[in-house]
Amino acid sequence: MRRRFGIFDSGIGGLTVLKSLTERLPPSSYIYFGDTARTPYGPKSKNTIIRYSIENSIFLIEKKIDLLVLACNTASSLALDTLSSLFSIPVLGVIDPAVEKACCATRNGKIGIIGTKATIRSKIYEKKIKAKNPKIETFSGACPLFVPLIEEGYRNKDVIELVVRDYLAPLKKKNIDTLILACTHYPLLKEYIQKEVGREILCIDPGEALAEEIEKTGPQDLSKESASLEFFVSDDPERFRKVGERFFGHPLPAIKKAPVPLFS
Ligand code: DGL
Repeated sequence: MRRRFGIFDSGIGGLTVLKSLTERLPPSSYIYFGDTARTPYGPKSKNTIIRYSIENSIFLIEKKIDLLVLACNTASSLALDTLSSLFSIPVLGVIDPAVEKACCATRNGKIGIIGTKATIRSKIYEKKIKAKNPKIETFSGACPLFVPLIEEGYRNKDVIELVVRDYLAPLKKKNIDTLILACTHYPLLKEYIQKEVGREILCIDPGEALAEEIEKTGPQDLSKESASLEFFVSDDPERFRKVGERFFGHPLPAIKKAPVPLFS
C-alpha cells in the first residue's frame, strides 16, 4: 500500500512521533504541520482544540495525503472522533496504540497517565483502558511545566528533578507498574521520569506505540527515492528548526511557513 502521511501537532513536540515513525517504518512520504503560531494546545478548551485540529487537517488533506496522523496527545484526546467523522481518509491518533500496549504490559493492573491539562481533563485514557479491561485501575496527573521546560532546553538538573518529583509523587504512592507518557514532549524527559518512578516501571511512549501499530499493518511499496519529508509551520520556521532538531534527533530539511490564517 502506498502511503503519504500527513501528520500534525500543536507545534514542535510531534517531531518525537515523526522520529518514531521514520525510524520504525520503511521509507515513506511525510508532510508535517506544526501549529507553532497557536501552540500550546494543552491549556486550551475542547472547542478551540477541535477547531484548530479541523483547520490543520484540511491544510494537510489539500496536500493529497492518504493517511492523517494526530501526533499531538491533546488533539488526539479531544478531536480524533470529530476528524474521523469529517474526513474519508484514515485518521490515526496516539491514544489507542498506547492504551493497547499499556493494558497488555501491566501485571498488577495499575496504570498511570501523565499529560497536558486538556488530555488529563478529557479522561480519554481512563475511558479507553476501562473499556478494554474494567479491572484495571488508572491514576492520572497533569504536568503543565514539562512542556516549557523541555522547549526551553532548560538544563538545571536540580530544578528538573524537583519538578518531576513533585508531579510524580501522587502517582508513585499508587503502586503503578506502567506509566503512559501521554504528551509528545515527555519522551525527552524519560531519563528523569524513569529515575524518579524506578527502573521496574514501564514507561510507554505513545509515538513509539503508534509506529509499532502501523508497522503491523504491513510494508509500504515506496522506494527510498520516492520517500520524502516536508515541513510546514504556522510561525517562525527558524525557531522550529532550532528547537525541533533536538526533538527529531536529526537535522531538519527546509521548513516552509504555512499561510496564516490557514484559510481565508
Ligand atoms: N503536543 C502537545 C501534546 O502532546 C503538547 C504541547 C501542547 O500543549 O501543545 O499534548
